[in-house]
Amino acid sequence: MRLLLLLIVYAISLAIGLWRRGLTSVAKISIAPTGRPLTRILIIGVTGGTGRQLLVRALEQGYVVTALVRDPRKLSFEHPHLTVVHGDVLDYSAVEKAVRGQDAVISALGHKRFFVLTRILSEGTRNVLRAMETHNVRRFVCETSLGIGDSVGRMGLYYSLLVIPFILPLYFWDKTRQERLIAASKLEWVIVRPAVLTNAVARGVGRHGRKVGSFLWTVRIARADVADFMLKQLVNDSYLGTAVGVCR
Ligand SMILES: NC(=O)c1ccc[n+]([C@@H]2O[C@H](COP(=O)([O-])OP(=O)(O)OC[C@H]3O[C@@H](n4cnc5c(N)ncnc54)[C@H](OP(=O)(O)O)[C@@H]3O)[C@@H](O)[C@H]2O)c1
Repeated sequence: MRLLLLLIVYAISLAIGLWRRGLTSVAKISIAPTGRPLTRILIIGVTGGTGRQLLVRALEQGYVVTALVRDPRKLSFEHPHLTVVHGDVLDYSAVEKAVRGQDAVISALGHKRFFVLTRILSEGTRNVLRAMETHNVRRFVCETSLGIGDSVGRMGLYYSLLVIPFILPLYFWDKTRQERLIAASKLEWVIVRPAVLTNAVARGVGRHGRKVGSFLWTVRIARADVADFMLKQLVNDSYLGTAVGVCR
């Protein structure tokens, strides 16, 4: 009983930490969009679930895409409008090479090293932001997750009380840092916070905004729908400078 109480206190304390450290609505800043047409985009994370969907859809929509990949063998995909840059997001020179000449960057960066204290998400994103500011690439759309900042609790009880506190605390802590770095940048940024991701076929984002998700039930969304929503944020200014939740 005492152990259970301790675990609940821990889960609640972590939630408070993720809420305080993450972005809240007050972080909304006003950004004047440049209005420049976007044709060339860099996608980070194309060998991952969301990234693959982003890549296929971006090419279908006529974008000229550069992909930063650690292992090009993982990308068994060729297209006349696709350029692959081999490199790690933690290596600034590789990131700079990929960012130079782009109109926008989309990131679906993630990893599975949940139990290691890493700063892959935040340090990788720091490199991207620095390269974008250096080369005057203005628009940045980045995937993070529901469950941080003012979306704490919105992944449902199972995630809030079990998965995030016991499997993902280090990962989510790094995500709060990642979001703060983005918000502190001078770019035209949109943070997209999805619910639990699935590989289902696209059915359309059901709900988007600051107050999506459920405090009780696990909410989900297909990676394909997240990808569609992220691509829309390249040309849509309504969520500029905010973190927007998306779910079915
Ligand atoms: N899973 C969920 O239910 C869920 C829910 C909400 C939000 N999210 C978030 O959504 C994002 C995407 O998740 P996902 O499951 O679709 O993608 P994922 O399968 O985790 O793919 C992550 C991508 O990031 C790349 N990456 C990792 N470290 C890198 C590095 N150092 N340099 C360059 N690239 C690197 C991976 O490349 P490699 O192939 O080389 O590893 C991969 O392409 C993640 O941030 C995740 O936390 C996930």
